[in-house]
Amino acid sequence: MSNQIPEEVIEEVRKANDIADVIGEYVQLKKQGRNYVGLCPFHSEKTPSFSVTQEKQIFHCFGCGKGGNVVTFLMEMESFSFYEALTFLADRSGIKLPETGVRKESSLSIESQNVLSAYEWLTKLYHHLLRFTKDGKEGYNYFKERGISEESIDTFQLGFASKVKGFTAEFLEKKGFHQQVLVKSGLLTLHEDNSVSDRFSGRVIFPIRNHLGKTIAFGGRTITDQEPKYLNSSESELFQKGKILYNFDLAKKYIRKSSEAVLFEGYMDVISAYQAGVKNVIATLGTALTESQAKLLRRYVDTVVLCYDSDKAGTEATYKAANLLRQVGCQVKIARLDDGMDPDEYIKTYGPDAFNDKVIRASGTYMSFYMRYLKKDYNLNLEGDRIQYVENVLTELARIDSSVEREYYLKELSNEYNLSMDTLVEEIKNHRQNMGIHKDKREKKRYTNSATKYYQSKKLLPAFQNAEKQLIAYMLKDRSITDKVQEEIGGAFNIDEHKIIATYLYAFYEEGHTADVSLFIERLTDQTIKQLVTEIAMSPVIENISDQEINDYIRIIRAENNDMASIKTLKQQQRIAEQQNDPLKAAQIAMQIIEIQKQLKNTN
Ligand code: GTP
Ligand code: MN
Repeated sequence: MSNQIPEEVIEEVRKANDIADVIGEYVQLKKQGRNYVGLCPFHSEKTPSFSVTQEKQIFHCFGCGKGGNVVTFLMEMESFSFYEALTFLADRSGIKLPETGVRKESSLSIESQNVLSAYEWLTKLYHHLLRFTKDGKEGYNYFKERGISEESIDTFQLGFASKVKGFTAEFLEKKGFHQQVLVKSGLLTLHEDNSVSDRFSGRVIFPIRNHLGKTIAFGGRTITDQEPKYLNSSESELFQKGKILYNFDLAKKYIRKSSEAVLFEGYMDVISAYQAGVKNVIATLGTALTESQAKLLRRYVDTVVLCYDSDKAGTEATYKAANLLRQVGCQVKIARLDDGMDPDEYIKTYGPDAFNDKVIRASGTYMSFYMRYLKKDYNLNLEGDRIQYVENVLTELARIDSSVEREYYLKELSNEYNLSMDTLVEEIKNHRQNMGIHKDKREKKRYTNSATKYYQSKKLLPAFQNAEKQLIAYMLKDRSITDKVQEEIGGAFNIDEHKIIATYLYAFYEEGHTADVSLFIERLTDQTIKQLVTEIAMSPVIENISDQEINDYIRIIRAENNDMASIKTLKQQQRIAEQQNDPLKAAQIAMQIIEIQKQLKNTN
């Protein structure tokens, strides 16, 4: 597989890409002691059990057990082949991989590779048409009129699909693409008479890029009031609307920097805001926010600012999106625009500064949005409605854990509806009691140390098993300890997986490597073993362990070996006694076995 890329090159690439940096592009990592922790990207969780160590250059999830080094991470995360992961890392660090005979296997189907390539060509072509040709002039004028600068047109690779009949089909067929693939990918439309036409003809083009910056679909907007207003590529293996966010690739680094993402409904909103200097901006693709998008965002940020249209539909969508985001554990802030406006119109009307200061920075809490949102269902001139409304707000308020925040809104209610604070406080208390929330129940510290919990629970393992794990942890760190273990017990570990790891480790050092967990993992092929090694390597170890302690571990492992051996022999004798019809002897042996087992239990 990888054999034809020289070892040293693989090493160089691996060393040039720090694992915390690479994983940090997918997960918000927070420093905890010597490690980093975050929400695992491989399984769904609300408290972080995903851990990364720079020192060892490995990651491990205590929740789902996934683990490995930087290459393994990308293979899992991006479904990359080994070669693709390596190429990605080499590009990322400016290293040129030598031309080898390695077959450049890809994790994508041939068809998807072709579609990607067609999109790449077309993105360039449509952009070129818009920027430099008479054919694309209408598109160019359209964006100019909407206040989009040339720089933004370039940044977002905006384009125009020529109206000339057969233009796109001819262009792509000349490049060697098969019509069938183009029809299937939704770039061309097939008619009943078997003729094809360009799906996006006469529309301005918004290339939709995945998180790696590759165009995987187009959004095409009419510039002549055609229906539909926006036309997207149809869904495919590459393009699933509910799983990607528009502009995520460009916004990512700003999102990381600010720990906040601003979510819009429209492509134009994103482009306008980005142009206005608010760059941590993304949008859904014409559909409601999905759980998968919400979870994706949660991995990157604590807070999402929702900035949807201020009309009725936008407000309803805000309510739904806000609750979905809260469910996955995001803090939600809600931006407020003047009545009926969308973000793009706001920026055009009031300018970038106003947008930044009065909308984004001034965005309010979920609760104040909810209090406004709820009003639509009531006629607050009627007393009955007012009471209902306040009751409803109180129910929601009761869920808020911060007493300061609760009090803030209670005051607002008290002022607005002329209710005494005492009554409101009493009401909230009742609500909270009914919900089973006790007065001084604090929200659990967000970053409970899952790693510690995990190791506490692991203490319940039998002593020999712990001893084996501990010993392997030291062997991974230190060649001389490994040599000693090899001499004293060789392959005589009691747990099969441990035996396998030890055997590989002996070979690894014999090949002349120094201690390097990340490289060691690279060499392992079995997934289970790989994950077990990362798990063990993540366990806390003492810096300078004494010989005495190593000897203790060895003794425990040996004792288990001996005891297991004697139990095995006794069990054989017991079976023989039974076969020979000697129940008395069989019973005596059974007693002996129980005695050893009892002792084993006590020492463990
Ligand atoms: P402009 O009119 O260009 O400013 O767009 P907008 O962003 O204000 O449009 P709108 O608020 O109507 O829609 C928001 C997003 O929904 C767009 O960016 C599209 O992704 C999507 N969308 C809008 N209209 C259509 C449509 O007719 N079909 C589809 N598939 N998507 C649409
Ligand atoms: Mn708009």
